[in-house]
Amino acid sequence: MSDDFDTFVESLQNQIFDETKEAFGEAGFQRWRKPLYRGRLKNPDVHARITGKCGDTMEIFLTFENDRIKEASYITDGCGSSTVCGSFATEMAIGKNPDEISAITGEAVLKRIGRFPKEDEHCAFLVAETLQEALKLYFENYAKNIKNMKG
Ligand code: FES
Repeated sequence: MSDDFDTFVESLQNQIFDETKEAFGEAGFQRWRKPLYRGRLKNPDVHARITGKCGDTMEIFLTFENDRIKEASYITDGCGSSTVCGSFATEMAIGKNPDEISAITGEAVLKRIGRFPKEDEHCAFLVAETLQEALKLYFENYAKNIKNMKG
């Protein structure tokens, strides 16, 4: 590779990094580079999947222990903004009980990230909706199991 090409690639990468930092702030930028909690959990207690109006899909995986979320993860085929939101929302969910999870709204996720592109705010609402769906499915399964136990 020529030095010119390397310099070009490096300056392009720096430009993308600068723009991303500007869009998400430092904390969001770090998540964008290293999206913590991304991936499938091996044996989730519950898994929810929602496709947003934008056509992108968010999936959330949760395990519970003593009525609190023990592990949480997400995957998405969406944009960088949805990755940042998925990472923060799952982090916010870990260790929480159902009441506290209900408080993880799109607004709460945006507040936690701090800075976020206005035009992508719907990504935060998609991840919050998916998290709430996971909670709903968890309780539905729980109720079904109790019913089955009673016969
Ligand atoms: Fe669709 Fe971000 S989730 S644009």
